[in-house]
This record gives sequence, C-alpha cells and structure tokens, in this order.
Amino acid sequence: MNTFAQPANDQIEAEALRLLRSLMHVECSTGRKWNIDTCREIAPLTLEINHLKQEKNAVILTHSYVEPEVIYGVGDFKGDSYFLAEKAKQAKADVIVFAGVVFMAETAKILSPDALVVVPDRDSGCTLADSITGEDVRKMKQLYPGATVVCYINCTADVKAESDVCVTSSNVYDIVAGLPTKRILFVPDRLMADNIRKEMKDRGVDKEIISSDGTCVVHEEFTAEQIAEARRTFPGLKIVAHPECTAEVAELVDFLGSTGEMMKYVKNTDAPYYLMLTECGLVSRLSIEDPDKNFIGGCRLCPYMKMNTLQKIRDALAKPTPEQVITLDEDLSHRAARCIERMFELAPQN
Ligand code: 13P
Ligand code: SF4
Repeated sequence: MNTFAQPANDQIEAEALRLLRSLMHVECSTGRKWNIDTCREIAPLTLEINHLKQEKNAVILTHSYVEPEVIYGVGDFKGDSYFLAEKAKQAKADVIVFAGVVFMAETAKILSPDALVVVPDRDSGCTLADSITGEDVRKMKQLYPGATVVCYINCTADVKAESDVCVTSSNVYDIVAGLPTKRILFVPDRLMADNIRKEMKDRGVDKEIISSDGTCVVHEEFTAEQIAEARRTFPGLKIVAHPECTAEVAELVDFLGSTGEMMKYVKNTDAPYYLMLTECGLVSRLSIEDPDKNFIGGCRLCPYMKMNTLQKIRDALAKPTPEQVITLDEDLSHRAARCIERMFELAPQN
C-alpha cells in the first residue's frame, strides 16, 4: 500500500532546494538548465520515491551514467559496476531498484537472491551484454577446451553461468594476469580484449586472449583524430578513457580506467581542462562533485542508461510490472554466482 500523502508547499520547497544544490551544476537531459522552478517540478516525485523506499525497505543503486536527478535525487549508492555489485551483495533490503542497465540488475539478483530486484525499464539493455548468449560461450569452450573463460561483467546471467570468473573494468588486468592458464577466452568485449593483450605484454605476462566480437556503442566511437584535435586546441589537457575504447585510443590517453577510477583520477589531478572519453554521466557527476574542473565536451550518451527516469523508478517501486521484475532460473543463478564470487575472491582490495 502506498501511504504517500501529497506534500505541503514547504516540503516541496525544501526538497527543491536540496535538489538544486546538486543539480545547479548540470543540464537537464533535455538540455535545459536546472533551476529552482525545474527542481520544484520534480520535487513531489523525489519525495514520493524517497517515502516509498522507506515504506518498502528498498534501496536504489545508481550507476554513474544515469541522469543526475536520479543519482542525487533518490539514489542510495552511486558508482561503477564493481562498487554496485558489492552493494547489492551487502544489501539488507527487501527491494533493490537498479537504475543502470538490465545485466547490472541481474547481477544484483544473483548476489541478493531473496530480494525483489526491479529495473525501471526492461529495454535498458547494453550492446555488449546483448552480443552473446550462453550457448555461444558453450560453443567457444568446445573449440578451446582447457581455456579459462573470463566474462566482463557486461554480460547476461546465462553467459556468467558458463564462465569461470567475472571481471569488471576496475580489476580486469590484475585478475587476468593472475590466472594460472595461458589461454583465456574473454567475452564479450573485443576492444577490451585488445587492451588486455597490450597490458599483458607491457607487464611481461604471457597470455593468449581469444575474444568474442562485442563492442560498446558508446566507447567504440571515440577516435585518435578527436584526441589529436583536442590536444591541439587545449594545451595542458588531460584525457581519460574507459577500457571499452579502442586500443588506438587507449594508447593516446593520460589515464585508462573504470568509471570510478576515472572520477578519482580527475579529482586527484590538477589540469586546466579534461576530456572524458566515456558516457556523459561522468562529466555530470564530476561537475557536481568537483565544480571547479573544466570539461571540454566530446563525451557520448548511452541511450540505455538514460532510460532510467524518476517516473519509471516511482512506478517500479510502487507497483512493478512483471517486465520490471528480475527473475532467474535457480540453477543458472547459482552457477553465475560462483563466477561472480570468484571475482570478489581474486579482485585486489582497495
Ligand atoms: P564501469 O564498471 O566502469 O562502471 O563500466 C560500466 C559500463 O557499462 C561502461 O560502459
Ligand atoms: Fe553497455 Fe556501453 Fe551503455 Fe556501458 S555505455 S551500458 S557498455 S552500451
């Protein structure tokens, strides 16, 4: 039962001011600037969502790429895939709303099987996760018996169930380097596989990396030309990128890392300008949390992450539709859990 009563004007005003303190530094997804009027418009919704969270003992996990009004308006935890997977595992909540993409919510369900895990929009896929099935992995394993199967966390539960160990962009190099077998089947990111090959070579670690053919629709688009042009125009520029970018791009940037690591790098360095070769949500987060830094544009939008609206989050919490609820076969979930738990065992502790 939703016991939310229409908020009084003074509650709306206080909530609008709370929202404005974060949102004043960024633009709405529509390109509009946040101001007290636009914050007043969404305040009843954020108040209702925060009320529903308490009523249902729910927690909202938000990936850094989702809209800032979601992260700062209603999110309980914000961060990269690894951090959010840890939070899902530790969650004592009855309900987990995952404002990210579907594979992340599946991971949360695998790690917190007793919780009701919901997604605001069932269509929030991911070009990497959607590029390969468990059946495809089984075929690869037949071609390369004895190889260790490493799946990047951006994959479906049935791919995880077929894999030996999961990795995220924050631990992929250390985990792959430490595996006992030379031959690694890496799915689903072809470009990240290129970056792993290069890193293993640089570390003097002898690995044979065989990959499937997925790519991220956001990160595959950044180019060496874009970097050269930006460096010409902005002296002293620091460029950061995600390991889902091409090896050519990775070679030319100042820092390569997960979304969480990229944020830390920017916060801990002092440069006149930054170019973020990643999803624009990271620029929004940094503009809020470190407003003195200058970003020169050039980031790209992930259409799937941007499907997470406040209205859909409210609906998923108040009365989720069957499409919004994550359900997984029990045996598949157990097998997928083993592969994720192995990552927690092998990942370097921060
Ligand atoms: P992170 O694990 O670095 O947050 O990356 C997730 C992702 O989808 C990047 O495109
Ligand atoms: Fe998937 Fe790319 Fe979107 Fe990340 S940015 S969720 S890898 S499509």
